[in-house]
Amino acid sequence: MAQRVRKAVLPVAGLGTRFLPATKAMPKEMLTVVDRPLIQYAVEECLAAGIEEFIFVTGRNKGVLEDHFDSAYELEATLEQRRKAPELKQSQDATLKAGNAIFTRQQKPLGLGHAVWCARHWIGREPFAVLLPDELMISSPTCTAQLVAAHERTGGNVLAVMDVPREQTKSYGIVAIKNEKDGLAEMTGIVEKPKPEEAPSSLAWIGRSIVLPEVFDHLGKHETGAGGETQLTDSMAKMIGHSPFHALRYTGQRYDCGSRLGFLEANVAIALGRPDSGAETRALLNRLLKG
Ligand code: UTP
Repeated sequence: MAQRVRKAVLPVAGLGTRFLPATKAMPKEMLTVVDRPLIQYAVEECLAAGIEEFIFVTGRNKGVLEDHFDSAYELEATLEQRRKAPELKQSQDATLKAGNAIFTRQQKPLGLGHAVWCARHWIGREPFAVLLPDELMISSPTCTAQLVAAHERTGGNVLAVMDVPREQTKSYGIVAIKNEKDGLAEMTGIVEKPKPEEAPSSLAWIGRSIVLPEVFDHLGKHETGAGGETQLTDSMAKMIGHSPFHALRYTGQRYDCGSRLGFLEANVAIALGRPDSGAETRALLNRLLKG
């Protein structure tokens, strides 16, 4: 029987150069989509999948992340005094249970693989989720819940994948698969950032996965790959054939909030889709487009 997935690693130590100067003093993952930072969407996605323990791998400026998931005593006491119940709830809902969050530093941005390796002592020897919070996923069940369900069926590693235009393969880890059934396929390979003509498919890893702890044995070798960084996908590739490895086609909404246009799209799409702001946003967009 598959071991339950209880922990998630959230790497948030990247430099976020595409969003400078916004990310000069604040991590990219604190950028707000409608009313909450990207990192909160990722945490909520995990909670909806039954994951309750979080390891945030941070770089510079981690204080604001820690504060976001802490209780905000002065703010909440004032909201209570002023009888602002919905606002109080919004603040309290962003608080993680005491002892359920760890913040550890990646002292140098040596790559995603190195960031995940920094979480090894807090994970131990159990399967865990890895989420890149700048990829924003909206679906029910959540993307991570879909992966957890697939892990329960297969007992192994599972990556969420989506078809991307072939000319974009050089921005992603691209997978090779066989024996696909109902969106779940055996993985036979994964290549980081291949040229379109060399890519084994156009199925891209979209920053969500369940990984077995054996990955740390490979990450610990600190081999560098594409871009001179330690790539998570290179260590994953070495596990194929040794432990069950599957790709799951994700069918919900995905917004690449690591890019400016994707971030803008997420804001507009999510505001349009919400009952408290949909109609007003539509009217606003119509007005702007006419003007
Ligand atoms: P990106 O490739 O988007 O890099 O990282 P970045 O530095 O965050 O952003 P740009 O490209 O300069 O604008 C993908 C994910 O991996 C994390 C990032 O925080 C992001 O969640 N990451 C990347 C680390 O935690 N450490 C690293 O050394 C590299």
